[in-house]
Amino acid sequence: MKIKVGVLFGGWGEEREVSVKSGQFVVENLDRNKYEVREVLVNRIEDIIELKGEIDLAFIAFHGKIGEGGYVQAILDLLGIPYTSASPLPSQIGMNKWLFKRVLQSEGLTTVSDIVLDYVTKRILVNENGGYRQVLSRICLRQTVRLIAEKWSYPVFVKPADSGSSFGISKVKNESQLRPAVKEATKFSRQVIIEPSLEGKELTVTFVGKTVLPPILIIPHKGEFFDYASKYEEEGAEEICPAPIDSRLSRRLQRLTLKIKKVVGVETYGRVDFVYKPDEDVIYPLEINTVPGMTTTSLVPKAAAAFGWSNQRLLDEIIRLVLPEQNHTPEV
Ligand SMILES: Nc1ncnc2c1ncn2[C@@H]1O[C@H](COP(=O)(O)OP(=O)(O)O)[C@@H](O)[C@H]1O
Ligand SMILES: [Mg+2]
Repeated sequence: MKIKVGVLFGGWGEEREVSVKSGQFVVENLDRNKYEVREVLVNRIEDIIELKGEIDLAFIAFHGKIGEGGYVQAILDLLGIPYTSASPLPSQIGMNKWLFKRVLQSEGLTTVSDIVLDYVTKRILVNENGGYRQVLSRICLRQTVRLIAEKWSYPVFVKPADSGSSFGISKVKNESQLRPAVKEATKFSRQVIIEPSLEGKELTVTFVGKTVLPPILIIPHKGEFFDYASKYEEEGAEEICPAPIDSRLSRRLQRLTLKIKKVVGVETYGRVDFVYKPDEDVIYPLEINTVPGMTTTSLVPKAAAAFGWSNQRLLDEIIRLVLPEQNHTPEV
């Protein structure tokens, strides 16, 4: 009997376009000898609810807040349908970069310091000595400029806490660019993170269960950082895998990836983005992606290929984490 896999993609957020491409990739590469594939272009919540009793497993190729941030996962849990991403809580932690940093800090892991404009609780917090402290009980950009000047020099990064694909992220070069950058970030999130710009090597590491794939070095070409154009346009960035870094750094990255996977509680697969600063010899985790891009030009298939896995094998390995009892040898 073939396993009935529903491939969920689409959605109604800003990442719909990327999600459709990820969905197509998964649909095209699932081994038809093992799986009966059902394409599920999600336009409304009912498209998911209707799957009850119809599929054995949902392959989530659905990025952004709804598909990646725990909502779809919770619905599938309620429907009793196993799925390929992390469960709701780690999905939420992964979706919110601020929450992610707080979890890492509480485990004693290093994160880049930041100022948070929290429009939910209406206050400004700063990250000091491994914890967040409220510095102002309202949000004031003049005070934010002052705080930045006290702590760092420009450029700084302004980012929405819970978005993806670099939407709403700006590299701010001077005071006057701060207000428009915060405004842009608030289009995507009610929590805005300001971080110093980490000048170093940008690296990303994929894990599939306990298997860590070779790190990828990212050199953006289209933008000044790994922005939307660099991520998705042709020749947008150079992505070298395995990363040309020394084996000790590669092992450190891989160990740190597993540690982060563990403390966040991701049991399936994912990708962690880092910046390594050679002058400090410190690796800073930026975020964990619990439904990483899975298009033909995405980083995860690239890392899998460098590890000797075909696209088909990559998808098999992911599914095997969810349905371990299944025998994945083809039927004869
Ligand atoms: N503090 C930082 N220093 C340097 N580059 C950063 C920093 N934060 C983000 N970036 C750049 O912005 C990109 C997107 O940031 P990231 O936190 O990974 O969010 P997203 O979910 O949009 O991928 C990164 O890949 C990196 O190029
Ligand atoms: Mg990223």
